[in-house]
Amino acid sequence: MERLLEIKNLKTSFFTHVGEVKAVRGVSFHLDKGEALGIVGESGSGKSITMMSVMRLLADNGKIVDGEIWFNGRDLVKLSENEMQKIRGNEIGMIFQDPMTSLNPVLTIGDQLTEPLLKHKKMPKDKAIERAIEMLRLVGIPSPEKRIKQYPHEFSGGMRQRVMIAMALINEPKLLIADEPTTALDVTIQAQILELMKELKQKINTSIILITHDLGVVADVCNRINVMYGGLIVETGRTTDIFYNPKHPYTWGRLRSVPNPKTLVKERLKPIDGQPPDLLKPPAGCPFAPRCDYAMRVCMTHMPPLFEVGEQHKAACWLNHPDAPKVEAPVGRRHV
Ligand SMILES: Nc1ncnc2c1ncn2[C@@H]1O[C@H](COP(=O)(O)OP(=O)(O)O)[C@@H](O)[C@H]1O
Ligand SMILES: [Mg+2]
Repeated sequence: MERLLEIKNLKTSFFTHVGEVKAVRGVSFHLDKGEALGIVGESGSGKSITMMSVMRLLADNGKIVDGEIWFNGRDLVKLSENEMQKIRGNEIGMIFQDPMTSLNPVLTIGDQLTEPLLKHKKMPKDKAIERAIEMLRLVGIPSPEKRIKQYPHEFSGGMRQRVMIAMALINEPKLLIADEPTTALDVTIQAQILELMKELKQKINTSIILITHDLGVVADVCNRINVMYGGLIVETGRTTDIFYNPKHPYTWGRLRSVPNPKTLVKERLKPIDGQPPDLLKPPAGCPFAPRCDYAMRVCMTHMPPLFEVGEQHKAACWLNHPDAPKVEAPVGRRHV
């Protein structure tokens, strides 16, 4: 397996008038070529900011305060804005939640699709148009020769998201980052878009990082999953580890609200009570401890390390310490 991305101890903060918001507090993970990694966790856990740090697209008050981001042999933290521009949209493609805010309403789909080809690849215009049509066909847009001359408002939500995927993939990036790509879409279209991403992963061999607050969505597409909470990875493992043998009470809580992948209906929805940690003053101990049914005294005072609980499986919970009481997971053994 060839390594594509390796993030080491990433810390990203926002500097506000009330203090430093520690959005990402020491995150490490990797992605090999051809892999699809899911990042799950509730709203505010640091999923988007982790990947925005990789893209170096943070708001003006945001800063990577520590860590390394190795992509294809280079530390992105150290690159100039100029060098980053060559990577964005070329080596790394990105899809956001709401395609309407990312598509330019006054340019035709064709102009927007061909722009990266003309800019990054210096392709002749007629070749670029040909390629754009081919790409629209690949993402399942009917009559692409006609559609290419139309504007974003002439497309439905699902079709716009397909255009976004076509745009993100047109330069055959090594990595595709999809941040909640289906959240704004209705359930049937969601399933179609996810199916499409799976198909394209086979055809184009792009590695994928799929961000979502919904564990059910990743099960189908991703081979590994990072579970984030309070700016940290609290559990990481193969998709089967996370679904069949979860080792963190936060993951247990999330698994209770996974929709059935067949019907996408939430069967046993049970939200986790309580509030996420205050990132202005993160707790000394485990960030999940105040909401955890299994919290012990140590959890309030000491941050648990990521214990190795399997071959590629780690969980930051003191219950995995050899001296901890044995607790039976209330979930797991689910069909993936
Ligand atoms: N520009 C900003 N200024 C201050 N705080 C921010 C800013 N952008 C994001 N944050 C904070 O960073 C944390 C992580 O956000 P984010 O990564 O977007 O979460 P999510 O997991 O929902 O994608 C949140 O607490 C959010 O409020
Ligand atoms: Mg987000």
